[in-house]
Amino acid sequence: MSRLAIVTGGAGGIGAAIAAELAAHGHTVAILDINKEAAEATAETISDEVARRAVFAVEADIADDASCAAALEKVTAQAGPASILVNNVGWDRIIGFLETDADFWDKVIAINLRGPIGLTHKVIPMMVAGKWGRIINIASDAGRVGSSGEAVYSACKAGMIGFSKTLAREFARANITCNAVCPGPTDTPLLNNQLGEGEAGQKIYDALKRAIPMKRLGQPEDLAGMVGFLASDKASFITGQTISVSGGLTMNG
Ligand SMILES: NC(=O)c1ccc[n+]([C@@H]2O[C@H](COP(=O)([O-])OP(=O)(O)OC[C@H]3O[C@@H](n4cnc5c(N)ncnc54)[C@H](O)[C@@H]3O)[C@@H](O)[C@H]2O)c1
Repeated sequence: MSRLAIVTGGAGGIGAAIAAELAAHGHTVAILDINKEAAEATAETISDEVARRAVFAVEADIADDASCAAALEKVTAQAGPASILVNNVGWDRIIGFLETDADFWDKVIAINLRGPIGLTHKVIPMMVAGKWGRIINIASDAGRVGSSGEAVYSACKAGMIGFSKTLAREFARANITCNAVCPGPTDTPLLNNQLGEGEAGQKIYDALKRAIPMKRLGQPEDLAGMVGFLASDKASFITGQTISVSGGLTMNG
């Protein structure tokens, strides 16, 4: 069945792969991204590749409630109520905790925790009205096991995991599932910016590769399959779960 899916941060990286996967499943996909040009280009590429599927872009700053509200109005006017929400936007810089300050904490919390909470609060009523919903929160293994230099980001991602479990409980009877997917190190602009260019960045990249049992970093498409499955009717009895997609780097019981 074709549904309307919203993917935040779908202009690039993991979000673009998720948007393509959901389109391939037959859904209409609205990409909400702060980078309008990139979002439009990605939407066009996916629409070309996945014949007859509608993927469209709407500019939104996930950290700004008013911007999200305006974007949602555009989405629903164009394609009706959403029944799949993928909270994918995330951002961080690797900095030792004592070198960070309040402005940095506020930015990290706004993008990784407060923003997704605000958007989800606006979208769930559409799912309740439609008696069907799928919320997939892209968290991080940093939220499960910690990550040096990412204290506040890890706190936000752990927050998103707790948020997911509570939504799963509160909305189970409304036929809405909510799960968290945790990428391990994945080859995207976010990771590449964090590692930095040159020899130092390459050294960390190689060390990550060695530490991952499958001996490679994740690719955005590695994440997309799990999200496509969780958004499908086949996953209707799976809720409140936290699933790592990390080539075996983290194995949680
Ligand atoms: N790449 C990794 O190694 C990795 C590891 C663990 C978790 N994650 C998580 O996976 C998710 C996707 O990460 P990625 O690596 O693809 O990131 P990315 O930086 O490559 O892409 C993020 C997308 O979000 C958009 N974006 C950024 N700020 C925004 C805002 N305020 N409002 C709207 N859009 C905004 C960007 O324009 C971009 O299109 C994030 O939640 C991230 O925390 C990534």
